[in-house]
Amino acid sequence: MQNISKTYGSGDSAVTAIKEASFEIYAGETVALLGPSGSGKTTLITMIGCITEPSGGKLHLNEKLIYDTKWQIKDTRRLRRENIGFIFQSHNLIPFLNVRENVTIVPQMNGVAIKDANKKAKELLDYLGVGEKLENMPSQLSGGQSQRVAIARSLSNNPKIILADEPTAALDGQRALSVMQLLKKLSAEQGVAIVVVTHDERMLPLFDRILRVEDGFVKEDKEIKEFS
Ligand SMILES: Nc1ncnc2c1ncn2[C@@H]1O[C@H](COP(=O)(O)OP(=O)(O)O)[C@@H](O)[C@H]1O
Ligand SMILES: [Mg+2]
Repeated sequence: MQNISKTYGSGDSAVTAIKEASFEIYAGETVALLGPSGSGKTTLITMIGCITEPSGGKLHLNEKLIYDTKWQIKDTRRLRRENIGFIFQSHNLIPFLNVRENVTIVPQMNGVAIKDANKKAKELLDYLGVGEKLENMPSQLSGGQSQRVAIARSLSNNPKIILADEPTAALDGQRALSVMQLLKKLSAEQGVAIVVVTHDERMLPLFDRILRVEDGFVKEDKEIKEFS
């Protein structure tokens, strides 16, 4: 991101949520976005994910120019579907699809054959410790299991980057920690960049870098290196 800004609304009601943010995120990194409520974290992570359109600046993804005054690509939905994994605060599983279908829907939309998508889903769910839930409905899962399925889903399109907005907010301390440790393991083993919005100071030792968001300004936290 180069000098990325976001202003919602216009005139007297305009709110500038992100002010000239510049930073890079590299493959295999774990990055925390930390900051008080309303500071701009969701705006920032949804701009990284090409969901929210910036108001100014430049955005590159995999070295490709994606935004410069306007979107530089026609189909941002396709871009997201093919390149980015998302994990939300509540797992957002589709309630009327079973676990396997929730994990295979995006690869299928991307044109992956059902047989290959099923095989990959099984591998991912096994890897995440919920392989036996393959044919269960989301309503039959605990909070921690649902979030593991959501992580499997976020990985199903082999993304280079996974974006998670407070993924552990609905989980208790121990489960929250184990979900974060899983994300850390993923970044190490699969070279995926992981960006996580978190309020939880206890998670911070798990991250390679911390970006602090304060009143729309984004700055890198240098002190973390001394702890880790
Ligand atoms: N869709 C929107 N329309 C108008 N203002 C918004 C919108 N989304 C967020 N904001 C405002 O932008 C600021 C940052 O919000 P947000 O990015 O959600 O912060 P955080 O995720 O850190 O709580 C807040 O002042 C919020 O009210
Ligand atoms: Mg938010």
